[in-house]
Amino acid sequence: MSADPISVAAEDSAAGPDGSSETPGAAGGKRRTLPPVLSKAPPVAMVIFGASGDLTGRKILPALARLADRGVLDDGFTVIGVARTEWTDDEFRTHVAESTPEGGPKWTALTERFKYIAGEYDHPDTFDQLKTCLDEADRLDGTDGNRLYYLATIPSVFGLVAQALAKHACTGPGEGGSFARVVVEKPFGRDLASALELNDHMHAAFDESQIYRIDHYMGKETVQNVLALRFANAIFEPIWNRRYVDQVQVTVAESLGVEHRGGFYETAGALRDIVQNHVMQVLALTLMESPTSTDADRIRDEKVKLLQAIDIPTPDEAVDKSVRGQYTAGSIDGQPVLAYRQEDDVAPDSQTETYLALRLRVENWRWAGVPIFVRTGKRLPARVTEVALTFRQVPFLLFDHRTSRDLRPNTLILRIQPDEGITLEFGAKVPGERFHIRSVAMDFSYAEAFAGAEAADGYERLIHDAMVGDATLFIRSDEVEQAWKIVDPYLQAWSEPGGGLHPYAAGTWGPHMADLLVERSGDEWRNPVIDLEMSGGRLTDFPQ
Ligand code: BG6
Repeated sequence: MSADPISVAAEDSAAGPDGSSETPGAAGGKRRTLPPVLSKAPPVAMVIFGASGDLTGRKILPALARLADRGVLDDGFTVIGVARTEWTDDEFRTHVAESTPEGGPKWTALTERFKYIAGEYDHPDTFDQLKTCLDEADRLDGTDGNRLYYLATIPSVFGLVAQALAKHACTGPGEGGSFARVVVEKPFGRDLASALELNDHMHAAFDESQIYRIDHYMGKETVQNVLALRFANAIFEPIWNRRYVDQVQVTVAESLGVEHRGGFYETAGALRDIVQNHVMQVLALTLMESPTSTDADRIRDEKVKLLQAIDIPTPDEAVDKSVRGQYTAGSIDGQPVLAYRQEDDVAPDSQTETYLALRLRVENWRWAGVPIFVRTGKRLPARVTEVALTFRQVPFLLFDHRTSRDLRPNTLILRIQPDEGITLEFGAKVPGERFHIRSVAMDFSYAEAFAGAEAADGYERLIHDAMVGDATLFIRSDEVEQAWKIVDPYLQAWSEPGGGLHPYAAGTWGPHMADLLVERSGDEWRNPVIDLEMSGGRLTDFPQ
């Protein structure tokens, strides 16, 4: 992990207390200069495959623009875009400018040298041109032989691109210690067999240490803060186990539908889109043993061990331990929204799940017997991601039911988004003559505690880490494979008749069957919005 996250001096003399400052923007208004929160990256030529695509425009270019404006990118930084769209360099630069309207002068200056190659991903011409372009970048832009390849294409060409790069001698570390790294987007495979095959293709071209499999959840500050909470504090560790924890619930809820990604989502579904990657990563950090150091591989070793302890069900068990749902028409924030099957590029009889609830077990000494409930869905009432650890009840309750009817078990909630922080719910006496106890919330809010500290967003952080060679927040091949081993039986079970798909109205918390999944263990789902309101915790408007 980067040892010193704040090591770049602010260049602007009129910097504010957080290192930010204001400069005149293009339209004459004030533009905020982003504070430096990441160390300076080395010179590098970044080659984006899929440069005309959605991900590049929405995530990668805006992240690069912010890195440039924070002063993190070196003067020897450039981008070479590669895609099938027939663009010239100028057309690509126009696309870059349109995708980064907030970009400041530092970014604009860098973009003037960006290059674009239109070509097929399996054609040698594309890679001959790329090689020439890279040599030119080293000579003219000072990229020093360093390469960062970013695979932002459709997953089916990841292997092809890697092989073509190897064939054109673009994957080896260069002379004088220069580096070549490759960032691979999710989905990494669509089941265990395809993930293994893709790993084979990648390993034929790159050493594992050069491969950076990205999961943008790992770039979120609050996900990283799980490490700080667990391993920088003495009070949580003694109770972080089956003796004290009654159950764990992970919720990744979105109020958005599939937007313009119906075609992609039809081939994915909630299990592949969220659970195999984001949920498994969050679970691994929350439940793993303490690593022996913050070295990337020591942390990843512990994550793998935890994933290896998650039970792999038989297909029959998989049906019993999962509930799949698909949203029908409904309303979100009072606005009517379409059913999934009415969305663009979605089959009218689609069997793809937009909601999923699972009951998992972690079979090790720390977690044996503790149910781990996971749910994720689109078109749920709010956008909220949280991990809630509910603790066991007291062995003997002194107070009668009337007195303590508003008391819920102690719960520690890691609020990953949107209202980032940590909440501890516990019982307190309501002021007054009567002895009435109810749950209240003790609350840590990132926004309040670190006011003014503008964190880098997930993509910014992860692209930076790939540039500086810090693999801690990226997913190693054995993690990916183990996560597929866990979810594969569900995919197999659902492909059989009787796999089940339960409708739920958009704007509700999923199908009723999912409630039964939890009730069978004598539990119930938290309502992340209402439960916090009841305990007097943070009230948020949960914007999307
Ligand atoms: C992506 C999924 O990985 O994560 C999307 O493909 C989902 O379907 C998104 O909307 C959620 O990310 P975040 O950061 O908004 O929680």
